[in-house]
Amino acid sequence: MSVTYPRKFRNSMSARDVMKHVVRDREIHLITLNRYRFSEQRSCKDLTDLIERLDGQPRELVRELSRHVSDEARHAMWLTDLLYELGSDLDKPPGMAYIEEFDRLLDKDGFETLEDGTIAALAAINVTEKRGCEYFSGHIQALKSAEQTPENIFIRETLERIMPEEAGHVRWGNRWLAQMAKKSPQHRQKVEQAKSKYAAIEQAAFEAGMDITMGAELRRVASLLDVANTLPLWERPAYLMERLPQTLIAPDLQLTRVQAAQKAWNRDPQAFMEKFVPMFLNGLNSSNSKK
Ligand SMILES: [Fe+2]
Ligand SMILES: [Fe+2]
Repeated sequence: MSVTYPRKFRNSMSARDVMKHVVRDREIHLITLNRYRFSEQRSCKDLTDLIERLDGQPRELVRELSRHVSDEARHAMWLTDLLYELGSDLDKPPGMAYIEEFDRLLDKDGFETLEDGTIAALAAINVTEKRGCEYFSGHIQALKSAEQTPENIFIRETLERIMPEEAGHVRWGNRWLAQMAKKSPQHRQKVEQAKSKYAAIEQAAFEAGMDITMGAELRRVASLLDVANTLPLWERPAYLMERLPQTLIAPDLQLTRVQAAQKAWNRDPQAFMEKFVPMFLNGLNSSNSKK
């Protein structure tokens, strides 16, 4: 069975590259931790939704999902405690939340059978857990090379407690998907299709969350087409038409841009002109070269 891994940002920046920059800037570092907290908290809600939809069957899956919710709730609690101790915000993190873009790209149309819905949910959970592992491990590595302040050590120790459990969740998802695929050739095909579909959705959400530079709208349309290409032909037009206007106008993207520009300007007007503006325009170049 194929194994799908998340791709790097624009195929060039690894999680470790990104985290090296994040840990150097306290404000961005705390926002990143708050994003983790938000995602862990949200996954409790999503897993609970799945338990309710399953309505008791299969019993083994319901039991394992309830343990999963308890793990994610503990992760959210550890991160909340950490941010609280550091005197940081516990609010909804600023900017485009990865998890919300992921939700927007999901195909919410009903599934033919409960089993199809379960395969979809397991594939969706699995791909986001893989991204989580990649980022936690890049973050831990970056903190090991950073200055060993009490704050950095506290953050690293918290992430080191979460990381092995996340790796366990990825293995758990792989096991369930493999088990589903073994049932019949049709099941195998459904599992493979769900895996490539949710990998494309996750990649698109991830890139949208990272990319606020010029031309990001066009790159988001390209990602949307990547997702549509994983769907059966007859489902593609409706999927695209439903999401295309918001992808092009992208009000959340405009708001994030304004907030990021204001922040960069307030912190250091000279660096704003020397670093932020060229970085922003660079996005346009990469959009043109992609074309
Ligand atoms: Fe977690
Ligand atoms: Fe997890």
